[in-house]
Amino acid sequence: MQVFTKVMDTQASTDTFPILGTDHIEFYVGNAKQAAHFYQSAFGFKLIAYRGPENGCRDYCSYVLQQGKIRFVLSSSFRKDHEIAKHVNEHGDGIKVLALWVEDVASSFAAAVSRGAEIAFEPYRSHDEFGEVIIAGIKTYGETIHTLVERKNYHGAFLPGFIAKDSQFTPQDLGLLYVDHCVGNVELGQMNRWVKFYQDVLGFKLLITFDDKDISTKYTALMSKVVSNGNGYIKFPINEPAQGLKKSQIDEYLEFYNGPGVQHVAIATDNIIDTVSRLRANGIEFLYVPENYYDDVMDRVHHIDEDLAVLKSLNILIDRDEEGYLLQIFTKPLQDRPTVFFEIIQRKGARSFGKGNFKALFEAIEREQELRGNL
Ligand code: FE2
Repeated sequence: MQVFTKVMDTQASTDTFPILGTDHIEFYVGNAKQAAHFYQSAFGFKLIAYRGPENGCRDYCSYVLQQGKIRFVLSSSFRKDHEIAKHVNEHGDGIKVLALWVEDVASSFAAAVSRGAEIAFEPYRSHDEFGEVIIAGIKTYGETIHTLVERKNYHGAFLPGFIAKDSQFTPQDLGLLYVDHCVGNVELGQMNRWVKFYQDVLGFKLLITFDDKDISTKYTALMSKVVSNGNGYIKFPINEPAQGLKKSQIDEYLEFYNGPGVQHVAIATDNIIDTVSRLRANGIEFLYVPENYYDDVMDRVHHIDEDLAVLKSLNILIDRDEEGYLLQIFTKPLQDRPTVFFEIIQRKGARSFGKGNFKALFEAIEREQELRGNL
């Protein structure tokens, strides 16, 4: 049975930085129209809002997609000097904004800044006929930012400036429910700095520590610490590369992203077999873990509700901790650069991150790295 190092419980007695949940995740991409179609057709998101030249936004456009509680914003610009174009040139398609939904932006922003947050932009109000929102931004690793969004006085489709929009194309919902966790990759020696940032500035707690003995294969290694906010809704694992014989997956990411950034977004489902079957039917490719993974997995996880043969046929991984078990699978990178990918996760009691699968997974990633000539 796998054990994991539980450093501290998520339940904080006093929450010094209340967060209601993930508000949205914004991707800066080269072609938002096509990216929006991909996330609709392959992942089952639904178009809900839009902003672009048709409603007065002259330099860029954004498509807002939703499924369950998850909102993705896909933005691209028309001008070479625009911030979005520069970001895409530097990093490829990637995640710029992890937006946090808060009750009161003014007090959250003031608290974060007083504890050392770097300002991305000062709080501002914007309104339209559906009400008012207040938004501010603070910087995190690399060029990634956290916007803070207060929307209790707003009932429009997304934010002021966006128009409600749907598409004639209505993809089938694939059962993606909410963002379970978002993982950041940072440079060697920087993991503790960013863990401290989340602890000191945003009042997060250190939840779990994985060292290079937990996460290593014959060739490569990485270290990871997971921080979580007061109510446990927001979980941010932070990875850094560790010394190994060959180039780690984190190094490959840092090289192709040109610095730190979001490595993966884990999305929860309550029926991973159905979700993954339909993602595969829609052409989504997943990391391949060899069939012998399943030979002894039951010795490790004991009883599960699902049929192992079905999990094996879909290449879904299983892990257990003291509280229950989880099922998970990882997509291949979502764009040409080997950077951002998704995890699909179904938790059945387990609150951990699949430590028992790390070795098999990282070997799978290394096989892909080798094919790219980056190992
Ligand atoms: Fe994950």
